[in-house]
Amino acid sequence: MSLFNVYPLFDITPVKAVDVFVYDENNTKYLDLYGGHAVISIGHSHPKYVAAISDQVAKLGFYSNSIQNPLQVQLADKLEQLSGCTDYELFLCNSGAEANENALKLASFHNGKKKVVAFKNGFHGRTSAAVAATDNTKIIAPINAQQEVEILELGDLEAVEKALAKNDVCAVIIECIQGVGGLDESTAAFYEGVDVLCKKYNTCFIADEVQSGFGRTGDFFAFQKYNVTPDIISIAKGMGNGFPIGGILIHPNIKASFGLLGTTFGGNHLACVASSTVLEVIEEEHLMQNAKDISAYFIEKAKGISAVKNIKGRGLMLGLEFDFPISELRKKLIFEHKIFTGSAKNPNLLRILPPLTIKKEHVDLLFEALKSELQG
Ligand SMILES: Cc1ncc(COP(=O)(O)O)c(C=O)c1O
Repeated sequence: MSLFNVYPLFDITPVKAVDVFVYDENNTKYLDLYGGHAVISIGHSHPKYVAAISDQVAKLGFYSNSIQNPLQVQLADKLEQLSGCTDYELFLCNSGAEANENALKLASFHNGKKKVVAFKNGFHGRTSAAVAATDNTKIIAPINAQQEVEILELGDLEAVEKALAKNDVCAVIIECIQGVGGLDESTAAFYEGVDVLCKKYNTCFIADEVQSGFGRTGDFFAFQKYNVTPDIISIAKGMGNGFPIGGILIHPNIKASFGLLGTTFGGNHLACVASSTVLEVIEEEHLMQNAKDISAYFIEKAKGISAVKNIKGRGLMLGLEFDFPISELRKKLIFEHKIFTGSAKNPNLLRILPPLTIKKEHVDLLFEALKSELQG
């Protein structure tokens, strides 16, 4: 059976990885400044993570959500402690799209409305409501297009009020810093204005922290830079350091009832142990502070490269914008300099999403490579 050919692949076959480095089958070493698309938070094969998952799988890998699972409670407590999101409740699922799908569905259950407001260049996943709220018509099938979604300009608070005032919007879904779209971020006045409008019109504010959460921006959540109180916060990527897990944090003004949400695999024993270990390592190794420190170092270095026209992002969710498409440069970085980086919807943007364990010496490797490519 051949594979359904939906991914354009780089011809590299990683077989092992340690911290910020990935090795292929010939033992060629690559610096990972992409983190498998912002997924690797505490570094590849972290010994504490490997030991915790190995130990758990030898005991009990999975049982359904029909029994007590104290590992879910443990994860919820640790998440509350590190995020500072006290009082929220946790529902666990398996991916970012699923987290947003549950978030949108829950918002609609909560206030009985069905329209969604989302933003230009936003990305929320590929499931039904999540993909409809994503600004990319190429990935929206006719079956998804029946969802009622209004895509507005990021920063246009007047348009948000106009949409919400019709009183049929269940949720505004927003990445406080955009990922796939290209690291755009609006102003505090905008995000805080959206929060006020959501409260005024009984609309749920959904903060999509699938990519920006779990310490990636140097804060636990990107929205925490602003004075906003999301009704629902969606999480995934960095949460499991590669183990598939997602979830939503739910404000206490939204009430649970039996059967309202559900999943077979969500919150399984292995996933919970993986994510709790990620949180412990983030805390023990001060990785949010590291994200801030390395980010500052990276930005200083980037300022020294004249071909870089704009430095975007926060923490270790960064982008270098050039005045030319970066696809060739990215290939050179991979094949000649053995450095993985990312791309974005904006073709001129090179995206940097390394493990949060990255050190200055690794940043230096990127800038040496960029200098040699851009001066030639
Ligand atoms: C902000 C954001 N939301 C949702 C998703 C979807 O996550 P997943 O691919 O795990 O379904 C992504 C994935 O890139 C994302 O960046």
